[in-house]
Amino acid sequence: MPKTQLTQITDLHFGETPEFTLAGIRPLDSFKAVLDAVNDAGRGDDLLLLSGDLSGTSSAESYIMLNQLLQDYGKQALWLPGNHDNVELMKKHLVNYPPYPVWEMGDWGILTLDSSQSETPIGHIRDEELRLVEDRLDQLKSKSILVSMHHCPIALGCQWLDKQKVNNPDGLYELLASHSNVKLVVTGHVHQQYDGLWNNLPLYTTPSSSIQFKQHSVDFAISDQPPGYRWFDLGADGTIKTGVEFATHFGQHPDTNNAGY
Ligand SMILES: [Fe+2]
Repeated sequence: MPKTQLTQITDLHFGETPEFTLAGIRPLDSFKAVLDAVNDAGRGDDLLLLSGDLSGTSSAESYIMLNQLLQDYGKQALWLPGNHDNVELMKKHLVNYPPYPVWEMGDWGILTLDSSQSETPIGHIRDEELRLVEDRLDQLKSKSILVSMHHCPIALGCQWLDKQKVNNPDGLYELLASHSNVKLVVTGHVHQQYDGLWNNLPLYTTPSSSIQFKQHSVDFAISDQPPGYRWFDLGADGTIKTGVEFATHFGQHPDTNNAGY
């Protein structure tokens, strides 16, 4: 049965230069290690879903470097913004990757939405965004739908991060749950893996391509896991296969005593 292949890479946290470091690793190098791991896994032709915090510093240079790197690797990609991003700079400098709120692939529609707010890491779905989602769902009635946003809509048991979840998830949930062709929700931001449910909707979060946050921690804490990504095989009948993989050969190691990011 034909399937649609997608690879999610999230929370790249690029800085202004290739030498920029985050908790002791270079996010540009770790992103390359993830791209290499994706290619080595035979998924080099997958569409990439970049689910926010592409920059960690809201800088034009981050997006210029990312655009060039994606071109060098010959990638197709779609993106959505995170709390560390600047949407206007993304639109301006990701010159080969214009925004696609809706991407149609075979029997699937990939719907991206903006859960970020300026000046705060807390997620929020604006009324305007909710209306756009409704319009897009109307356009995609014949497709199975993957919905992606940066922030997680539920608590994952990581107390400091749970405070940053989407602060008004109910309207979005009701809208998505009322469309039986919405099959799953995929997020970034939490820098850790979760495979579970948002009420009745399958929900997946994904390790970062830079540093990982320690699961079930009360205060900010970094884990020693390597950079990672998530793959999806989306079936023509709406079925989902997914898994997380890590770039285990990446030679840089995060400073797990780092107090912030
Ligand atoms: Fe984030």
